[in-house]
Amino acid sequence: MKKPEILFLKQEDVIAAGLLNMKMVIDVVEETFLLLSEGHVINPPKIKLGLPDNENWTSFFMSMPAYVGGRAPVAGFKWAAESKRNAAVPGMPYGVDVVALSDPDTVYPKAIMDGTLITAMRTSAMAGVMARRMARKNSSVACLVGAGVIGRTMIMAVDEVLPELKEIQIRDLDEKKAKDLASEFSGRINVVPSRDLERSVRNADIVVTETTSRTPFLRRAWLKDNATVIQMSSYEIDDDVLLSADRVAVDNWEQLSRGAGTLVKKLADEGRLKREDVAEIHELVSGRKPGRCGDDELTVACLHGVGAIDVAVASRIYETAIERGIGQVLSLWDNPLWV
Ligand SMILES: NC(=O)c1ccc[n+]([C@@H]2O[C@H](COP(=O)([O-])OP(=O)(O)OC[C@H]3O[C@@H](n4cnc5c(N)ncnc54)[C@H](O)[C@@H]3O)[C@@H](O)[C@H]2O)c1
Repeated sequence: MKKPEILFLKQEDVIAAGLLNMKMVIDVVEETFLLLSEGHVINPPKIKLGLPDNENWTSFFMSMPAYVGGRAPVAGFKWAAESKRNAAVPGMPYGVDVVALSDPDTVYPKAIMDGTLITAMRTSAMAGVMARRMARKNSSVACLVGAGVIGRTMIMAVDEVLPELKEIQIRDLDEKKAKDLASEFSGRINVVPSRDLERSVRNADIVVTETTSRTPFLRRAWLKDNATVIQMSSYEIDDDVLLSADRVAVDNWEQLSRGAGTLVKKLADEGRLKREDVAEIHELVSGRKPGRCGDDELTVACLHGVGAIDVAVASRIYETAIERGIGQVLSLWDNPLWV
C-alpha cells in the first residue's frame, strides 16, 4: 500500500527550486487564472482569524484553500499570517506563511513548504498580470509605495511586464528602507528613493501601493488622468480614486466585497460599487472583459490575494523540487492504525 510521503521544503529549498524567477511566477499566475475562467479551479473565499478581532487585529491568520486542475491537479491551502508586533522587531518578517499540498484523489498530503516567499512573489506577480492589462503599454515611470517585502518583489514584477519602464520611484515612511531597496537593485533596475509622495505620484504612469497603512494616503488630485493605480492592501487610496476610474478591476469580487475594512467592501456596502462595475482578473486574462481601452483612461485595481495562486505556484515548486531532488521526505505514518 502506498505510504503518504510529504516533501518538506524549507525556504532555502523553495529558492533552490526556482521561486525567485518572477517571469516563471507570472506565467503560473496567468495559466491559473485562465484555468479558473475555464472552470478548472475551485477557490472558496479565505477565512480570516484576527486577534483580538478582525477589525482591530494585531495578529491574524488566514486559511486559503483551493483546488487547481489542469495538467497536474492539486488541492491545497495556504496558512497565511501577519503580525504587527513582528513589524516593529528588526529581523522578524511581518508575514509568515506555510503552504500544504495534497493529492486530490488519494487526499494524501504531498508537500509542506515555506509559503512566505511564495506570498511575496505571487502577490507582485498578480499585480504584474493586472498591470499588463490595465496600465498603458508606454508607461515609463512607476511609483511604488511601501518598500517592504512586497515592495521588493513589486519592483521585479513591474520591471518584467512594462517594457518601456525607465524609472521606478519607491516611497516609504521609513526613508532608509526605500533608499536601501533602491541600492539593492542598483545596476539592474533604475529604482530611485522618493522623498515626496505627491511629487512622485504626479510624475507616475502607474502607482502601486503595498504598505501596512491603516488610513488612505493616495489622493485623486495627484494622479495623472490616464494613470493606473493598483492597491495591494485594504485601504490605501481615497474613495474618489476608485470612484473616478474609467475602469476598475479586482482579483476576487466576492472576497473583497466581504472583506472587513477594505475599500471595496465599504463602497459595495454603500451601494456605490457593484459587481457589474468591475472586471475580475480571470475575465481580463481570458479576454471576456477588456482591460484598459485606450491611453486616456484612469484605471484602478484592488487585489487581496487568492489561495489558488499560492497552491499553483507551490505545485510548480514541488514539481521542480522532485526533479532536482530537493527537500526532505517525511512520513505521515509507518502503518495506519484504525483503517
Ligand atoms: N494583496 C495581496 O495579495 C497581499 C499579499 C501579501 C501582503 N499584502 C499586503 O501588502 C502590504 C505590505 O506587506 P509587506 O509584507 O511588504 O509588509 P512590510 O512590513 O514588509 O512593508 C510594509 C511597508 O509599508 C511602509 N508603510 C506603512 N505605511 C506607509 C505609508 N503611509 N506610506 C508609505 N509607506 C508606508 C512601512 O514602513 C513598511 O516598510 C501589507 O498590508 C500586506 O497585508 C497583500
